[in-house]
Amino acid sequence: MKEGHKGFTSSAGVILAAAGSAIGLGNIWKFPYVAGMNGGGAFLIVYLICVAVFGMPLLMTELLIGKQSGKSAYGAFRTITGNNRWQWLSWWTLAGVVILMGFYFVVTGWCAAYLVESVTNAYKGMDATALAEHFAITVTNTPKMILYGLLPVLLTGAILWFGVNKGIERLSKILMPVLLVMMIVMAVYVLMLDGSKEGLLFLFRPDFSKITPQVVMMAVGQCFFSLSVGIGALITYGAYMPNTQDASMTSFQVIVLDTLVALLAGVIIFPAVFAFGVSPEEGPELVFVVLPAIFQQMPLPWLSSVMFFLLLFIAALTSTISVMEVAVASLLEAFGGKLNRHHVVLITTVIVCALVSLVVLSMTGAWSKLTIMQHNLFDVSDNLVTMVIMPLGAMCMSLFVGWFMPIKSIDVVPYSKRPWKKALRPMLIFSLRFVVPITILLVFLNGLGVF
Ligand code: PHE
Repeated sequence: MKEGHKGFTSSAGVILAAAGSAIGLGNIWKFPYVAGMNGGGAFLIVYLICVAVFGMPLLMTELLIGKQSGKSAYGAFRTITGNNRWQWLSWWTLAGVVILMGFYFVVTGWCAAYLVESVTNAYKGMDATALAEHFAITVTNTPKMILYGLLPVLLTGAILWFGVNKGIERLSKILMPVLLVMMIVMAVYVLMLDGSKEGLLFLFRPDFSKITPQVVMMAVGQCFFSLSVGIGALITYGAYMPNTQDASMTSFQVIVLDTLVALLAGVIIFPAVFAFGVSPEEGPELVFVVLPAIFQQMPLPWLSSVMFFLLLFIAALTSTISVMEVAVASLLEAFGGKLNRHHVVLITTVIVCALVSLVVLSMTGAWSKLTIMQHNLFDVSDNLVTMVIMPLGAMCMSLFVGWFMPIKSIDVVPYSKRPWKKALRPMLIFSLRFVVPITILLVFLNGLGVF
């Protein structure tokens, strides 16, 4: 932990906070619907390869940049290089953070609305058609969506108010284990349904003929989004890591947890979808339309629905905490002399409230003419962050650490003499110099239709 920062106090705290950042809507909302639309098992195989190739090196890269500089995405590159030549990368990641917050809070707001409505048993007796109509009405209801969109912003602001240790670390230590236990309970429950086996086969039996360039592109985007790499969220957490913390072990544990939760989400959703004869290719509405309809037909409908949307909301909240902390930490670094943490949290919360309202208005009719290339701000921000900002940000960070950061400062595994750990540094450097940037570039060019 460097001067000026109050950091994490335990290694479990670091791991759970970083896992909290990684595990979110990406795992429980996005992974099942993207996998459902892109061939199930075939997508899973490509996704797992992406996690293996990009996951470890990129997670370590961000944590190491943070650890080495003791700064957030805003000040890290400048501190390490001693000049402003890489400052554009800070601005790139911060742009990503702002755009991501715009749409992420909106979807977190949907989760909050569905949680409250599940608690009040509002879906009782509704079938899939009624629920599809309800979803369409809900997401276009401006006051409702602004209200529910602002709720997680205020909640996140309140947690950040208490700081890194008392806010983020303490909450992650409670919420992450709760999330895992709830998911395991739900998975066991769903697997007891008749006909659930087909859903498991859809997810775990790959049909290789379904692997297309589009599937690869989606899997790469999903991998960056799910692991939170490419927009500096983990640089900020790296700066809060205790000096003795092993970045390689932390990265490995975060990757395992993140992948486990994505798989668990698949194991909850696909068996339920197949058991009730629904198509897995439903798209973004899968968890908001199909699942509540299924819950209504299961034993214990109220409990299943409340539990599912509660875990979705918790997962989203530990991610919003990490993204908004990047903005808070960056503002603190930029105006540290004049403003304290509480001022900065207030300012950030107000700005993010305005941003989220803007995105809602662009979706709900009031300002729906505000489009870019015929897409509303919501779609544009989702695609821009996932497909462009995160992969290219990650590519530049990997080139930065691989080629420009002084090699001796790549303190991958502090104080370890184990041979496999010694081999990690050259492997990491090779991967950051060549494997990661070249692969991202190829996938990107492929996505642009260059080949
Ligand atoms: N990884 C988060 C998720 O899966 C999203 C996220 C991306 C959070 C980038 C922080 C930074 O939902």
